[in-house]
Amino acid sequence: MKDEVATPEERSAGLKGMGCSRKRVEDVRFTQGRGNYVDDIKLDGMLFGDFVRSPYAHARVVSINTEEAMKVPGVIAVLTAADLEPLGLHWMPTLAGDKQMVLADGKVLFQGQEVAYVIAKDRYAAADGVEAVEVEYDELPVLTDPFEALKSDVVLREDLEGQTEGAHGPRKHHNHIFTWEQGDKDATEAVLAGADVVAEEMVYYHRTHPCPLETCGCVASMDKVTGKLTLHGTFQAPHAIRTVVSLISGIAEHNIRVISPDIGGGFGNKVGAYAGYVCSVVASIVTGKPVKWVENRMDNLMSTAFARDYWMQGKIAATKEGKITGLWCHTTADHGGFDACADPTKFPAGFMNICTGSYDIPTAYLAVDGVYTNKAPGGVAYRCSFRVTEAAYFIERMIEVLAIKLNMDAAELRRINFIRKDQFPYQSALGWEYDSGDYHTAWDKALAAVGYDDLRREQAQRLEDFKAGKTRKLMGIGLTHFTEIVGAGPVKNCDILGLGMFDSCEIRIHPTGSAIARLGTISQGQGHATTFAQILASEIGISADDITIEEGDTDTAPYGLGTYGSRSTPVAGAATAMAGRKIRAKAQMIAAYLLEVHDDDVEFDVDRFVVKGAPDRFKTMKEIAFASYNQAIPGLEPGLEAVSYYDPPNMTYPFGAYICVMDLDVDTGEHEIRKFYALDDCGTRINPMIIEGQVHGGATEGYAIAMGQEIAYDDMGNHKTATLMDFFLPTSWETPTYETDFTITPSPHHPIGAKGVGESPNVGSVPAFSNAVHDAFRPFGLTQSHMPHDHWRVWRIARDLGLHG
Ligand code: CDP
Repeated sequence: MKDEVATPEERSAGLKGMGCSRKRVEDVRFTQGRGNYVDDIKLDGMLFGDFVRSPYAHARVVSINTEEAMKVPGVIAVLTAADLEPLGLHWMPTLAGDKQMVLADGKVLFQGQEVAYVIAKDRYAAADGVEAVEVEYDELPVLTDPFEALKSDVVLREDLEGQTEGAHGPRKHHNHIFTWEQGDKDATEAVLAGADVVAEEMVYYHRTHPCPLETCGCVASMDKVTGKLTLHGTFQAPHAIRTVVSLISGIAEHNIRVISPDIGGGFGNKVGAYAGYVCSVVASIVTGKPVKWVENRMDNLMSTAFARDYWMQGKIAATKEGKITGLWCHTTADHGGFDACADPTKFPAGFMNICTGSYDIPTAYLAVDGVYTNKAPGGVAYRCSFRVTEAAYFIERMIEVLAIKLNMDAAELRRINFIRKDQFPYQSALGWEYDSGDYHTAWDKALAAVGYDDLRREQAQRLEDFKAGKTRKLMGIGLTHFTEIVGAGPVKNCDILGLGMFDSCEIRIHPTGSAIARLGTISQGQGHATTFAQILASEIGISADDITIEEGDTDTAPYGLGTYGSRSTPVAGAATAMAGRKIRAKAQMIAAYLLEVHDDDVEFDVDRFVVKGAPDRFKTMKEIAFASYNQAIPGLEPGLEAVSYYDPPNMTYPFGAYICVMDLDVDTGEHEIRKFYALDDCGTRINPMIIEGQVHGGATEGYAIAMGQEIAYDDMGNHKTATLMDFFLPTSWETPTYETDFTITPSPHHPIGAKGVGESPNVGSVPAFSNAVHDAFRPFGLTQSHMPHDHWRVWRIARDLGLHG
């Protein structure tokens, strides 16, 4: 159809803009094995690095002998802390204001800790070299329990001995890191003391791991002629890595180019700075050759970036009718050997203070104590906005515990406590201002979609049958209504290492009307090249197919804080829309000049500017783009480009209603997920198909976490789950079928009304799965049991409740 006769609807559809289920443009290369990941990078003369790792969780390093390793053919050098010390690189700063050994300096604090770095001509020689390094250790007592660690005489961090002030205030004990308090303690305790009903429980969110399919790695290449360091790596925040490398190496920032190529999943695992990056950079500087380091699976699971490990003691107060009056939470946070959490500076426990959830709770208090133990450091936001996952799990379990205490239906208890639509923007008791929400509508839609009343009737019948000996399977209905907080964040609140958490987009329109946009974010599978082009298509009227999206190269992309915590859409998505609007504003002036009317006499219409009241008189964006390069327009610079650095005024608060229906075999502990319904509200939806994919992926991670995945240690600090034989990663065989749904409550402050969605399904699904397990055993007196609910643990619940006869 000719452009001139197409209707606005047809022209709009042709743009493939917002709201369109556009197919992912990335998949053309991914499905053909044509992605370009770190391990695909091969540079001339490239060397390989590998780590000698500690077999002990706590030991003094008596000696390191590298003589035999240096005899291994192909081994070029072995770095130890002694080699890094003169460079001041044997310790590095963490994102949480602590410091961390790059290579073991006198002692080791967790099993798998990096002790020496072997550089060799190929990865096989590097591995042989690692085997040949002789390290003598003197074992020390091991602390794997944070409660024990806070009582123990054993000093884990001898480097901090005597320091009573930490990065986040006073330290109460030599193994204590910080106390973080939010809310009104006295008022909350007064409410608890005078309440009709108080439910109390310890809710543990176990240690787990993001476990992306591609592990962490980098290729460092120092060009001694130009003085330029190029660092390819699996970085979720390439600009921040560039700044950190500059600060700790002393190399001027303009001489460092950080490139994140394709990334095979990040989920928070690739936010932090690891010893492998520092050692590879040093090795490249020393040898003058490019050096590659890529973790294997055990390295990844043992040493890089665990998640969760929060012990949350909760008390929730209510009237006898079920109206919640107060919430109290004390969390003991196990941070491992170093505080390497990836949180904004002012939030040592991330956004745990969103733990009042979807509920109108007038009074609340939260305290978090961070503790050192002999476990790996990390504490990253595994598909999560800085501990919102722990917060959501905590409140959704506490609601269930309260429902038991009140002998109430948990769906009704939620309904009577939801923040009402007319209360938004809503000021929570723990400090956040929720932007928008319509929880009752979402909840009613969810309950109706699953046939909640019928499910409860079926469950009651099942219980009768169980008691009558007709079945050995119980039925659980797991309810969750979660509220997320994503889009870190307003620069006034959120920074990492002093870098404000804005984000950016730069757009160049080419003369023939196609475009390139570069952003400070980096996709790890979320489909940014598809969806950011859709935002622009709607904003500037050029088809998404004619827009290239580029991320991840610090030499070309504008400065941004990267992709994690579902911040890309709320922050960089907003920057994209705002940059698009700058393009449109200039295009309007060009169009008016070409049409010989005043600027105010033209209006934007899908893909063109039209003279008001004269629809036949228009200039398309393609014509305007060409004119910007080939005509001298009075008062205007040639070209059509714009850049936006966007500092969001607030976070966005997506929410969702998830319901899981599960059968549990009391004799085997096996489960069957019969139904999983996920309603998400992420405001304006850019690409419904990608959102659905995000929900499927996140819910599958949530399923793994709730039903089997854990990072476990024995009392000696030995890591028990460092392979995929032991660490549960669901395949298509175990993955449930999901039913997705949505409501749309736009964010009032986001330029296109969009909220993030990537992490919501991980946040929301874990309590839904877990609540289903608890719900099945509720008639037999179970109030709380710790995840993961693997077959053995479910079997044990049944045994402990006397259900095995
Ligand atoms: O920061 P990250 O990309 O992990 O998370 P996100 O901002 O929630 O976006 C994940 C994917 O979902 C991106 O491709 C977004 O463009 C898409 N999305 C969407 O289509 N509509 C929304 N309202 C939010 C995200």
